[in-house]
Amino acid sequence: MTDKPTPLFSRPTVQMGLLAAGAALATVLVMALYSSISGHKAEARQTSFRVVDLDEKTVDPAQWGKNFPRQYDGYLKTTEKYGTKYGGAGSEAFPISKLKEDPRLPIIFDGYAFAIDYNRRRGHAYMLDDQSKTRRVTEKPQPGSCLQCHTSNTVLYREAGLKAGAPGSLDDPYLSPQGQAQVMKGFEALCKLPYAEAAKLAKHPMGCIDCHDPKSMQLRVTKPGFIRGIAVLAESAEPVPHLPSIETWRKGDRKAPYDPNTQASRQEMRSMVCGQCHVEYYCGPKTTLFYPWNNGLKVEQEEAYYDSYKFPDGHRFYDWKHTRTGAEVLKAQHPEFEMWSQGIHARSGVSCADCHMPYKREGAIKISDHQVRSPLLDISRSCQTCHRFPEAELKARVEAIQDRTKALLDRAEEAIVNLITDIEAAKKAGLDEARLQPILELQRKAQWRADWVNAENSMGFHAPQEAARILGEAIDFGRQGQIALRDLGAAKVAKK
Ligand code: HEC
Ligand code: HEC
Ligand code: HEC
Ligand code: HEC
Ligand code: HEC
Repeated sequence: MTDKPTPLFSRPTVQMGLLAAGAALATVLVMALYSSISGHKAEARQTSFRVVDLDEKTVDPAQWGKNFPRQYDGYLKTTEKYGTKYGGAGSEAFPISKLKEDPRLPIIFDGYAFAIDYNRRRGHAYMLDDQSKTRRVTEKPQPGSCLQCHTSNTVLYREAGLKAGAPGSLDDPYLSPQGQAQVMKGFEALCKLPYAEAAKLAKHPMGCIDCHDPKSMQLRVTKPGFIRGIAVLAESAEPVPHLPSIETWRKGDRKAPYDPNTQASRQEMRSMVCGQCHVEYYCGPKTTLFYPWNNGLKVEQEEAYYDSYKFPDGHRFYDWKHTRTGAEVLKAQHPEFEMWSQGIHARSGVSCADCHMPYKREGAIKISDHQVRSPLLDISRSCQTCHRFPEAELKARVEAIQDRTKALLDRAEEAIVNLITDIEAAKKAGLDEARLQPILELQRKAQWRADWVNAENSMGFHAPQEAARILGEAIDFGRQGQIALRDLGAAKVAKK
């Protein structure tokens, strides 16, 4: 009782503890220094406030925004309108109409919904609105498949899958076999619904949950069309050196399909998350949405797949029958992932996110810019990290590529319009259908190629030489068609 307690600091255990604490403090300081220089993964942790417990049921991006306000701010800013020489949709209330910009398009698309309403793309924030309001949807019947790329649908698909008898519950991890079974079953079911009915279930444009795991925030792909498409691409023989994890999978036993979520590298994922939607696809009433990647990603490989594809009714694949000529033609849609795949940047390991979501410093913190838009609006962050040239020089290089592509594209469309006019005249003159058939094939080929470059949204930048190659072929097929018609006409005259 009378014993005075030993002064605190002289207790051996405390001394040991202090030593350890000192060492720990030093370690913390070193770690802090390390994390401040070791890139954004550590910084991502600092930006997380963990206000909300996110899980696989948290669809609303505003909830995610409570934990990650900086990324959420960027995401919200995709409402900002802009126009560069070839990019964006302009600053007006309504997006620029592609049909008004280019009067050849209504002739080229005659008979298809794209001849009624077709605009330039704009920010991610508009995707659900623009889709539900386009006259392609309000005036033509469209399937629920349209929603795959225009809404946040991980939970919608799982709920629909569970309703249709898939095992498990929404609490299963997304990537578990049960979770995946739910997604795929729900995807099949919702694709079949008429658009208006499926759209009633859609509440948000693409959300955080579509690209991120809610617990780890790791990147992931969730769109069923992409997961199936990339697996069939892996099974093809086409070399894909810019996607090394596929090359690795090919060398394995190939028992399970290639799975980007477990096999792709982080750098590959930085492109694949965009490739979920920025791709060519079939999305009509006749079968479930798919990506035509069975032979590879090039324009003629997709064409060959469509040419070999038979609809359930046995008819060869086509998107619509051209009103003026009767040709069964194809419509291309935004093949950015495919075009990028043919370019030097992909080959050099540069991802979509490197240019379109560059790192951004906010105070002491470095984040990925979630205001996805044209890189030309911020060349210093998007390009100068790798290219040590002045901004004006880099912009001039991009525009030189785009101007050259546009000049070739104009010539290709001119050739197609000329061919269409000549076919119409030949039909009026009574040329029989059977002899016309090979010429309608040339219209199909020319149209597919010109459209592929036109629908691709970089005006050639993502792969300049590939774009030029494709347009050269488009011009050639168009003019070959005209020559063949002349020959037929000459033969007819000679017979008389
Ligand atoms: C090396 C940088 C770079 C890479 C990598 C890249 N892009 Fe681009 N992208 C550009 C440039 C430059 C443009 C042209 C922008 C303009 O005309 O304003 C563009 C245009 C676009 C556009 C149209 C933008 C607009 O403002 O209208 C989309 C969409 C797009 N890219 C998607 C992608 C996708 C998806 C990927 C990956 C598969 C990708 N990009 C890879 C640089 C890049
Ligand atoms: C869920 C599908 C989906 C995903 C994933 C997606 N996009 Fe988009 N993207 C769209 C749609 C749809 C639009 C057009 C929206 C509109 O016009 O209303 C668009 C528009 C754009 C634009 C034009 C922006 C503007 O303001 O004009 C760019 C650039 C772009 N996306 C790049 C990317 C990049 C880079 C990625 C990957 C980080 C990506 N997108 C991921 C569907 C998607
Ligand atoms: C595989 C993904 C995907 C599917 C499926 C899809 N879209 Fe899109 N959609 C996009 C992307 C990416 C863009 C932005 C790039 C562009 O406009 O070229 C876009 C842009 C649009 C736009 C704005 C530009 C324009 O074309 O006027 C509309 C409207 C649209 N889509 C409607 C539809 C409709 C209708 C369907 C179903 C028939 C559909 N989408 C299916 C990915 C998709
Ligand atoms: C189209 C896909 C896509 C969507 C949608 C998306 N992100 Fe990201 N996000 C990315 C990419 C790509 C990165 C870079 C990841 C990497 O390099 O590992 C990223 C990185 C992040 C990071 C890590 C830190 C950083 O900034 O690099 C956080 C946190 C994040 N996103 C939060 C969000 C939130 C919150 C939302 C919704 C408001 C969201 N993301 C929506 C693609 C997306
Ligand atoms: C992560 C690094 C990186 C980023 C970011 C990047 N580039 Fe590149 N770029 C490369 C590499 C690597 C090459 C291939 C040439 C080489 O190896 O030096 C290249 C090539 C090019 C070429 C020649 C294209 C060709 O087909 O021959 C142009 C033009 C170009 N880049 C412009 C841009 C622009 C504009 C941006 C921004 C929108 C950009 N780059 C962003 C790394 C990058």
